[in-house]
Amino acid sequence: MEIIKCKDYKEASKVAGDILSHAIQEKPDIVLGLATGSSPIGIYQNLIEDYENKKISFENVKTYNLDEYVGINRDCPQSYYSFMNDHLFHHVNIKKENVHIPYATPKALEESCQKYSDELDKTVVDIQLLGIGANGHIGFNEPKTPFEQKTFIVELTDKTRQDNKRFFNSIDEVPTKAITMGIAEIMKAKKIVLIATGKNKAEAMKRLISKEVTTDFPASVLHLHQDVVVVTDEEALSLVSQ
Ligand code: F6R
Repeated sequence: MEIIKCKDYKEASKVAGDILSHAIQEKPDIVLGLATGSSPIGIYQNLIEDYENKKISFENVKTYNLDEYVGINRDCPQSYYSFMNDHLFHHVNIKKENVHIPYATPKALEESCQKYSDELDKTVVDIQLLGIGANGHIGFNEPKTPFEQKTFIVELTDKTRQDNKRFFNSIDEVPTKAITMGIAEIMKAKKIVLIATGKNKAEAMKRLISKEVTTDFPASVLHLHQDVVVVTDEEALSLVSQ
């Protein structure tokens, strides 16, 4: 696991954005695994800038998102489908048919998971972008999720719902379930880039860097992957003795 220590969120977004941007230049039909949440927004801004400056094109890029809430409509501003359109897809020339975001209607939970899992079985993700939850979740794989897990419906923990409350009017509106790529599918990616910045991620980074591999802290599975880059900043590393 390579750790790149940046000054702050802005620098980390540029460094991680450049990793993705160079990879798109080298392989224009690259397959990217994408994340939502606050962490990747700066990366997506950098990618949009590189697209506008004609450094990269998304014409042949394919994407697979990590997760989506269950129980809110895709058109809802809080859905991860809307998030991706707002923060990346509507600003670049990606083809609609090349975008994959899991979606589960409450009536077809199992079928939706199977469909996404089958799709991922046929796919090799070149670079998977990840954020990390304060409890170590990656995607929505909460603590105790088995490392062999494939796409499934997860019951979100209170901690995760509280952390994500900021995107909703009240805690009652935060969905209790989500569909997420499983840890096994995340680990299949050829390369993984994780971005973690700010004080809120300091405990998680301390735990990640301790190198103990345990399902109690899902991101620790990344120590078993051959090619992981963690792009982080001074605040997120503030509890790690240097
Ligand atoms: C989002 C995702 C989550 C987030 C994590 C961190 O698609 O899979 O694992 O990456 O919850 O979220 P932020 O970046 O908002 O702190």
